[in-house]
Amino acid sequence: MKTVSILSALFGLTLAQYDTYSAPFRLVLSSDDPTLNNTALGACHEGAAVEGLCKTNQTTSDPPTFYTTFYQATSSNSGSTYDTPSILYYNLTISSGTQIPSAMRFSQDYTSDVAIPLFMPGNSTYTPVYVDQDCEELYIPRRVDDSVSPPNPLAPPEKVKSWYVCLTKEAYEYYTLVWHVGGRGSPANPSCEEVQVRRVFT
Ligand SMILES: *[C@@H]1O[C@H](CO)[C@@H](O)[C@H](O)[C@H]1NC(C)=O
Ligand SMILES: *[C@@H]1O[C@H](CO)[C@@H](O)[C@H](O)[C@H]1NC(C)=O
Ligand SMILES: *[C@@H]1O[C@H](CO)[C@@H](O)[C@H](O)[C@H]1NC(C)=O
Ligand SMILES: *[C@@H]1O[C@H](CO)[C@@H](O)[C@H](O)[C@H]1NC(C)=O
Repeated sequence: MKTVSILSALFGLTLAQYDTYSAPFRLVLSSDDPTLNNTALGACHEGAAVEGLCKTNQTTSDPPTFYTTFYQATSSNSGSTYDTPSILYYNLTISSGTQIPSAMRFSQDYTSDVAIPLFMPGNSTYTPVYVDQDCEELYIPRRVDDSVSPPNPLAPPEKVKSWYVCLTKEAYEYYTLVWHVGGRGSPANPSCEEVQVRRVFT
């Protein structure tokens, strides 16, 4: 017991329980490019039971479809879905009609400067994302600025929104959402267009 409580005290912060599920929402882009602005991202096939987040032709005026519907899990302890880590989920529908909750994680090839969000069944691996209370946009907090020496702890953390839509080749060539690793400058991929990703409840 003692060991357990010492361990919980040591690791309490990292033992967040993602036990509260949100209402369904769409992930809608904001962009200077009018062909991307206000379009919803859609789950797209990137392998057996693997989906990426692809550009679609659907705008907020179109009705949501199953492949543009996502939800998130946060900790009940946080009391809010804002500015707290969350797991982003897509429900994969298999042939029996069963829905398989699939958590989002970044797939990173260390020779590329973009990471590709992918959904896979289960939640054993996930990349936590946050929602900015001021604008409903997804971000990842930067807690240490390592562009200066010595590295500078940031309190509060900086809300980094390093999202782009680029022609990628995970399994297939698609225009997908990516995360520009590091969040400074632009991705090397010349097709990338900067976007913001907004949570819009359906
Ligand atoms: C993963 O999902 C299961 C339900 O299938 C849930 O009990 C568990 O708490 C989840 N784990 C995380 C880290 O969210
Ligand atoms: C994108 O959409 C928003 C809201 O509909 C609008 O205010 C903005 O002007 C649009 N931007 C562009 C570049 O079309
Ligand atoms: C989206 O619209 C473009 C232009 O009208 C069309 O070429 C393309 O096939 C459409 N894509 C989808 C997924 O409907
Ligand atoms: C996702 O699937 C789970 C388990 O089948 C179900 O309880 C939940 O209502 C579904 N959520 C959405 C948004 O489809």
